[in-house]
Amino acid sequence: MKDSFDSPNLAASNALATDPWEAAYLRFETPQQEIEKFIARLQKLGASALPRDAEIVELFCGRGNGLHALQQLGFTRLQGVDLSPSLVAQYQGPAKCAVADCRQLPFADRTKDVLIVQGGLHHLPALPEDLDRTFSEMQRVLRKDGRVLFVEPWLTPFLKFVHAISENALARRLSNRIDALATMIEHEKRTYEQWLSQPDLILKLARTHFTPLHEFFAWGKWNFVGKPR
Ligand SMILES: C[S@@+](CC[C@H](N)C(=O)[O-])C[C@H]1O[C@@H](n2cnc3c(N)ncnc32)[C@H](O)[C@@H]1O
Repeated sequence: MKDSFDSPNLAASNALATDPWEAAYLRFETPQQEIEKFIARLQKLGASALPRDAEIVELFCGRGNGLHALQQLGFTRLQGVDLSPSLVAQYQGPAKCAVADCRQLPFADRTKDVLIVQGGLHHLPALPEDLDRTFSEMQRVLRKDGRVLFVEPWLTPFLKFVHAISENALARRLSNRIDALATMIEHEKRTYEQWLSQPDLILKLARTHFTPLHEFFAWGKWNFVGKPR
């Protein structure tokens, strides 16, 4: 028996996602669960202190639930960027979303106040080159007093435990959510493992481009708030 994490519009979402990773991503959490998770995260990262009219871009925005979370927190000038036309097409809200590559951002220099990435950097194919390009682009489009917020997977003891469970066939059969997570990991294995195996390089590169203001590692995530150097 599967658990009940599925979205009510799962069939429609999966029909839109022909890519197996995207189909698993869509059944991992309902939009509402994802929005609540993002709101809690953004609050922990201090988003409540940001001006509500800050120009914010959610990079690697996927189906845009991070944008919904920001909207619910009262932010009014929102944009999103993601490489997947099918995921971007699922976003319905006031933010302007672009299908584009975050290694080449479609924005002019020094025009954004806040750039947010939640679970996107670990999808970049080449480390350190693509991460360096993405961070350079972020630095380019951020205003001098701008902010970056990242939340990315990190190989903490908790994440090792999650990996062990997701590799268990019985757990996968019993839980649709664990099965979705395991499927996503299988399909992003190369970039995911590349990311998790190079923590020193990633932290060094982040510090080359951004001065850390607040950083913590918890529940399998690296949480980083910084300003451009
Ligand atoms: C794990 S999802 C994260 C989506 C969203 N931030 C979330 O947490 O739900 C990773 C996203 O990165 C996007 N992506 C991968 N490479 C990208 C690139 N080079 N530029 C822009 N988006 C990219 C994928 O299409 C996918 O939507």
